[in-house]
Amino acid sequence: MRYTLMLAAPLALALSCAFITPAVAETVTASSPDGTLVVTVTTDADGRPTYSLSRKGRLLIGASMLGFIPSDGPTMQRGNRIVGHETGGGKETWEQPWGERRFVNDHHNELLVRFEQVPDWGGRRMNVRFRLFNDGFGFRYEIPEQPAMKVMRIADELTEFNIAQNGTAWWIPGGEWNRYEQVYQKTPIDGVSTAHTPITMKLADGTHLAFHEAALVDYSAMWFKRQTGTAFRTTLSPSGNGPKVVRALPFNTPWRSLRIADGARGLVENDLELNLNEPNRLGDVSWFKPMKYIGIWWGMIRGDWSWAEGPNHGATTTRAKQYIDFAAKHGFGGVLVEGWDKGWNGTWFGNGRDFSYTEATPDFDLEAVARYGAQKGVMLIGHHETGGNIANYEAQLDDAMKLYDRLGVRAVKTGYVADAGGILAPGDAPGTYRAEYHDGQRAVQHHLKVVQTAARYRIAINAHEPVKDTGLRRTYPNWIDREGARGMEYNAWGQFANGPDHEPTLVYPRMLSGPMDFTPGVLSLEGANKVPLASTLAKQLGLYLAIYSPIQMAADFIENLEAHPRELAFIRQVPADWSESHLIAGEVGDYAIFARKDRNSDDWYVGGVNDATPRDLSLKLDFLDPGRVYTATIWKDGEGATYETEARHRIVYATLKVKKGDVLPAWLAPGGGLAVRLNPGK
Ligand code: NOJ
Ligand code: CA
Repeated sequence: MRYTLMLAAPLALALSCAFITPAVAETVTASSPDGTLVVTVTTDADGRPTYSLSRKGRLLIGASMLGFIPSDGPTMQRGNRIVGHETGGGKETWEQPWGERRFVNDHHNELLVRFEQVPDWGGRRMNVRFRLFNDGFGFRYEIPEQPAMKVMRIADELTEFNIAQNGTAWWIPGGEWNRYEQVYQKTPIDGVSTAHTPITMKLADGTHLAFHEAALVDYSAMWFKRQTGTAFRTTLSPSGNGPKVVRALPFNTPWRSLRIADGARGLVENDLELNLNEPNRLGDVSWFKPMKYIGIWWGMIRGDWSWAEGPNHGATTTRAKQYIDFAAKHGFGGVLVEGWDKGWNGTWFGNGRDFSYTEATPDFDLEAVARYGAQKGVMLIGHHETGGNIANYEAQLDDAMKLYDRLGVRAVKTGYVADAGGILAPGDAPGTYRAEYHDGQRAVQHHLKVVQTAARYRIAINAHEPVKDTGLRRTYPNWIDREGARGMEYNAWGQFANGPDHEPTLVYPRMLSGPMDFTPGVLSLEGANKVPLASTLAKQLGLYLAIYSPIQMAADFIENLEAHPRELAFIRQVPADWSESHLIAGEVGDYAIFARKDRNSDDWYVGGVNDATPRDLSLKLDFLDPGRVYTATIWKDGEGATYETEARHRIVYATLKVKKGDVLPAWLAPGGGLAVRLNPGK
């Protein structure tokens, strides 16, 4: 551990303003436990707080400013001086109730720096806490109680990230109508506009970075806005309330986080945001069991059935029982039923005021379906589409969860289909609304309220059109997954709507934030009107290993699943809960092959997804237990397979004996994938 306090040479007070700043700027530094990362915190000639970060002695983030624009007072940036600092650290291993790995290591050093503005600038105080890990760092503002301010109204946050080199970035734009459901762009870093996080970068020298945030609670999400060159700053998601954030003091902001690694693997096998979140507040959540599920869903997404009542209504008692029978026969833990409730009048956007969360449509006997499922050992998975109307949902939230609890429903999928900025929160007068963003402070409050209410009823939440994940599953482990990216649904709507690059890109920015309900398993490889998917059959299986979620859907119609018994056998076997996960081969945006160990057995699984470039890989099986012989059951792209033609259906099966250290050759087709089960026998 290394902390130093340095006094810089007196700074020339070539100030354009009349305010007094200290003649001697204090500089404080701290390093990560192994000394790789060093943060330096000081104030500039105008008293503006800055931090910089170096890695292995090389500047990574140049001097970057900190501060806020309050909406009701002078800027909280100039006129600051450091009035104190504290150091600390921590080392522990903690256990996840479910996840990509059972045990998470947290080893960090900490530095808290206290800033105070001179009286002419309002005399306000803010502390910044830095946490340095060997493979990343985070910092947050901690605004203490103080005489000068009781409530902070934040027009925007002025945190900068002045990246020292150019390189390549993978990102989606922030603030656009389709929220996070966009195709990732690959541009030079200095070609980014305003991005959502996580944003992933590969610098010119090969260093891999991912900027994100952790513990987004009662605050607006951070968008990552390029200022000039490779310098970025936060801009917060807007609010219908005026200031983007309103908080009574004291409070802490979310952590601004940065994963840092030499390669793709180090970005993926990195628990920075989880470590920056608070420990589990719910205690035992063993009532939620990771599982695979099917649903009355693909038929609506494709347009064959409707969510709304009518002649093609998807959610009928008969169909639900048929799906439950299939689930019981093939080992699925749950059946999702969407469009079961009254009020869905057939329009998509702005329809949320009419939804009932407690009354079923006449052709759907909710109680009978839940009971039928329970008898067969299959759970009904609940569904709450809100159409973005959180006012209506919040008004019924408690009753809605109470009903599902009584019926033994332990997981609910929520949905917020509305354009960005189209969330409707209660307005000041009864019956009025305030429009909000999906990731503004009000929506952030809403999501946590839903998760906390659900937890009281022992219900897990899978949010679609959500706010992005920031590691809160550690604190609230009933927040099992979310959508928050373009999922499988886009493949129903247009040929190659999700191109072959989509999933091998998702792994590296989106999946760093947390589990995704991508809904793989469209074994027919067909959307509506027979539009083909940009995927081979093996890739549909590889998705179960590439895109983690503790609930994994098999999205296709049950008839199509049944028509592929060997693929269905893989889906039945593949776990949704792991004791270890490793990226054993992959590059950002190109391909991703994981090795994951089942949490409930000694089985390993290997597999993943490829982009449009065919590849020959040699996968080293050095993760297996020594001295054991494993039976490898393989589902792989057949000769000549490619997503571009009917050859996308070509798959081959093989069985071999392997042991630790063996090399498994694998050919990945264009748009291809791979799935392998490694079973050590008794
Ligand atoms: C959009 C979701 O992503 C999809 O899964 C869901 O079926 C619809 N909303 C309806 O709630
Ligand atoms: Ca969606």
